[in-house]
Amino acid sequence: MGFRALTLMLVAFVFHTACVEPRVRHYNFKVGKKNITRLCASKLILTVNGKFPGPTLYAREDDTVIVRVVNHVNENVTIHWHGVRQLRTGWSDGPAYITQCPIQTGQSFVYNFTLTGQRGTLLWHAHINWQRATVHGAIVIFPKHGTLYPFPKPDKEEILVLGEWWKSDIQAVLNQGLQSGRAPNVSDAHTINGRPGPAPNCSSNGYTLHVEHGKTYLLRIVNAAVNEELFFKIAGHQLTIVEVDASYTKPFKTDTIFIGPGQTTNALLAADQETGKYLIAISPFMDTTVATDNQTATGLLRYLGIQAFSPTEVTAVPPRNATPATTRFMDSLRSLNSRQYPANVPKSIDHSLMFAMGIGVNPCPTCLNGSQVVADFNNVTFVLPTTAAILQAYYYNISGVYTEDFPANPPNPYNYTGTPPANMQTINGTKVYRLGFNSTVQVVLQGTTMIAPESHPIHLHGFNFYAVGRGVGNFDPQKDPESFNLVDPVERNTVSVPTAGWTAIRFRADNPGIWFLHCHLEVHTTWGLKMAFLVENGDGPSESILPPPDDLPSC
Ligand code: C2O
Repeated sequence: MGFRALTLMLVAFVFHTACVEPRVRHYNFKVGKKNITRLCASKLILTVNGKFPGPTLYAREDDTVIVRVVNHVNENVTIHWHGVRQLRTGWSDGPAYITQCPIQTGQSFVYNFTLTGQRGTLLWHAHINWQRATVHGAIVIFPKHGTLYPFPKPDKEEILVLGEWWKSDIQAVLNQGLQSGRAPNVSDAHTINGRPGPAPNCSSNGYTLHVEHGKTYLLRIVNAAVNEELFFKIAGHQLTIVEVDASYTKPFKTDTIFIGPGQTTNALLAADQETGKYLIAISPFMDTTVATDNQTATGLLRYLGIQAFSPTEVTAVPPRNATPATTRFMDSLRSLNSRQYPANVPKSIDHSLMFAMGIGVNPCPTCLNGSQVVADFNNVTFVLPTTAAILQAYYYNISGVYTEDFPANPPNPYNYTGTPPANMQTINGTKVYRLGFNSTVQVVLQGTTMIAPESHPIHLHGFNFYAVGRGVGNFDPQKDPESFNLVDPVERNTVSVPTAGWTAIRFRADNPGIWFLHCHLEVHTTWGLKMAFLVENGDGPSESILPPPDDLPSC
């Protein structure tokens, strides 16, 4: 080989490597107010960069993302990057008073994290009060350079952010609920990419997805709703699920997607039906008597080249209490578990925990009804600190902010799914559970019949977990583990625990920091269905949490 050829090869090689280096992606998020009209009425909402839903954050696996968030509104703000592992960068996780004090009016904070071992779709959202109703958007993580999707490359990609809309101001809805001590009002509509579609007494345009016959589309579906688990359907079309919560799955076909708030689902849509118009529908799932709305939001799948007046093929939405549709969907979800993307399910367990999830009633002298609905894990109604975030208190050894006595098991075991005990009072506390670095953890999330048995989408920050088992009734520690799937269980960050049933999750505590665990129905988080894990540092700097950034807000 001549010198010239060698030089050329070298240049090509250097150029190639330069191209595949992970990048640093910079974003500016300005939180401000904007007047927008939905359901034929206008109101001021909080937005990022004036958009609803907010801007999509695009990156590639291994990229570093730097987002400068500036608060231009008269209330405190934080942003959470839901599902991002945040390895050693807990300071950038975002839940107010857990990992950071909120960003105050006129202030800013720079979130800085690297996307490691994740590819697919996630979401970002505000993580204080109920701001996430309008402050949310998608995160798209493309596979790293040199790797492909483990499914046929789609012709196009589309993001569908599902949400909820209240006619009233969202803070007013929350305040009214807190004052009454009862459930806040349910939303007035659902939205697809911010649009409810035609609603009773108001004809408004819905979202339209334009497709071309013969092409395949990757739908990145995000449930950014506040208080509702949802069904998603497209008339006349099957969807192939390929990824959830930024983890690849074994592909399977379905006509109905079940998606809880905080969850994301990537599905392939083949535009292989007769050229026409097909309804896209989202509707709530609720298999108990708890008050929920009944609204279906609709959009349109529209093939290129059809007549404007051609009829729309409609689809029946599942009944609101269609538990079997949720079970079928969850049973079909499996990790891809390929050589490139193995499922590393912990086989032996260092911490075997059981968290019973209850709704209780505590006395409340300041509430209109003299009492207040509360929620708890293991009888602890979690109270957020006010003077410092838990992560700060841990890092700087500030005492009096939290305690480490979160119970590993329900303190007073009872028949969780039978007749509830008479005393439904909980204790308030800011209690964390301590885990050694790299220890393995199993948590059985046990639903209960306290006041309202209900399906709970439980979200863990800082980790993906494997959902190894699920059942109705009480978890049986003798019998149930025998049927756990330790081979290819779905890997995710949010899991729906069935009504009056249980779900077992497993993860490895390989990320030092303070990590929030909570129900992603915001109403339940507000009531106290939340706790936090404290994960110790491992050996040396590479297994320890990074020092806090200089601009970390103070309380
Ligand atoms: Cu998507 Cu703690 O939240």
